[in-house]
Amino acid sequence: MSKILITSALPYINGVKHLGNLAGSMLPADVYARAMRLMGHEVLYICATDEHGTPAELAAQAAGVDVGQYCTQMHEEQKAAGAQFKLTFDYFGRSSTPSNHALTQHFAHVLEENGLIEERVSQQVYSNADGRFLPDRYVEGTCPNCDFEKARGDQCDNCGKLLDPIDLINPYSSVSGSTDVEVRDTNHLYLKQSDMADKLRDWVNAAEGWPPLATSIALKWLDEGLRDRAITRDLKWGIPVTNKDGSVREGFEGKVFYVWFDAPIEYIAASQDWAAETGNDWESWWRTDNGKGDKDGEGVQYVQFMGKDNVAFHALSFPTTLIGSGEPWKLVDHIKAFNWVTWYGGKFSTSEKRGVFMDQALDIAPSDYWRWHLTANAPEGNDAAFTWEEFQASVNSDLANVLGNFVNRITKYCGGKFEGKVPAGGEPGEAEAWLVAELETRIPQLVSYYEAREFRKAMAETRAIWAAGNEYLTQAAPWTHYKTDVEQAAIGVRYGLNLVALFGVLAQPIIPDAADKILSAMNIPEDNRTWNFGDIANIVEALPIGHEISAPDVLFAKIEDTDVADWTERFGGGA
Ligand code: MF3
Ligand code: ZN
Repeated sequence: MSKILITSALPYINGVKHLGNLAGSMLPADVYARAMRLMGHEVLYICATDEHGTPAELAAQAAGVDVGQYCTQMHEEQKAAGAQFKLTFDYFGRSSTPSNHALTQHFAHVLEENGLIEERVSQQVYSNADGRFLPDRYVEGTCPNCDFEKARGDQCDNCGKLLDPIDLINPYSSVSGSTDVEVRDTNHLYLKQSDMADKLRDWVNAAEGWPPLATSIALKWLDEGLRDRAITRDLKWGIPVTNKDGSVREGFEGKVFYVWFDAPIEYIAASQDWAAETGNDWESWWRTDNGKGDKDGEGVQYVQFMGKDNVAFHALSFPTTLIGSGEPWKLVDHIKAFNWVTWYGGKFSTSEKRGVFMDQALDIAPSDYWRWHLTANAPEGNDAAFTWEEFQASVNSDLANVLGNFVNRITKYCGGKFEGKVPAGGEPGEAEAWLVAELETRIPQLVSYYEAREFRKAMAETRAIWAAGNEYLTQAAPWTHYKTDVEQAAIGVRYGLNLVALFGVLAQPIIPDAADKILSAMNIPEDNRTWNFGDIANIVEALPIGHEISAPDVLFAKIEDTDVADWTERFGGGA
């Protein structure tokens, strides 16, 4: 047993997340956290809302509420959506809490003491009408490269060139549309990532078990030459830049830390808040100086889940903060990065409201259906296209036909012919031997896929185990034997019931509601639901003879073609 620290990228505060966000960070992290708990590991699974930055400020403005209030409300909504998807965070924090303010200041101070932060003056576009400096992407104008008239300050969407907003011709504010803008000097703190490049490269090269996607992105940034990054912004909403006595740093009035500087620090700050609320100790998870946090022996394994656009920040920027502090902080061991879930040829998009959002998804179908489909089709190796037809096929064939029918058939039959009790009798034959051999290869395989965080493979293996159960029942055919040889029928029913219990146990990380229904109907106490498989040959005889069971209510309702047509129209899929 070991300690496994799990974080999923902090969802940005501006609105309920779409299924692409869910599938590429929070959901796989939850499936993994659940599986690791079932295996007996001590797990700390942390997430939070990422609340600072311009988009939050603008979203609040658009909603006509104070930004603090806006964040409080959106935090509650995201927390509720997570709970409805049965995400088992040990703590769901907020990056705007006092603990994150304090820890962010702390890191800024020690990094500066270590010579890794420097104040520099740069030029930026100031909007008189908006009364603020404009972040790069909120300045628009004519591209100096291709003359496209609606180029964004950070990049031209027409020719693809990376731009500096001060080079735009006829610049204007995309916040207000005002052309009353000018270039002004502004001072910021810069994190000298370039000084850390060699250390970071060694660390990335030594990393084990990162998917190629994560390593290649990190190395690409290193190969291109790490740039020093401004870690402050001209903005009101965020963590102010203060001196050690808490007063605002001179020249930093009206400035705050860049959202990407403070957000990952919230992983730690949220753990502190968790510890304070639950009476736990956060240092044994995050500090390597107490003998518990290092990789060897009883050390913590730290796994981060995120979409590929987050990799550079987690593989380079955040480690710069941690290593640069010179303090013994726990670094990530495994970065699990995901590609995109695509939506009918494009991307899901929060700003353009393209795709299905977490709250809408649950109006349509129960969380288990989504959890299964999105995990079985996780965007691991490549982008994964979402289609309604495939969602329907996952639910109808995998869940309803393969798993649901099996459970239903055997539990009902037991109720009808054996008084709902696990029957004794019968001698194992060829079919039973085949089944045991299947389980003996497949269960360890399944466990190893979970340990390797290979979600598609773990789901395919789960499906294969369900299919093996169906195959066994076809071979054993208790309903045929019952007429001539009740003992022979009994063994088929008994093995079948033990498989139902096994399927329930194995399904817990993925489809927790259905798993709970199955295990409750099978009368399996909570503490007997863990993944201590022991001798796999015993699994088929685990239930005591005479143990009472019942048939669960319908586990999965099929998705009709009319539903698919309806959703396609409502959500604009297929267009
Ligand atoms: N909010 C960011 C996004 O949605 C992710 C932040 S992850 C963090 O892409 F941990 F660094 F905060
Ligand atoms: Zn251009």
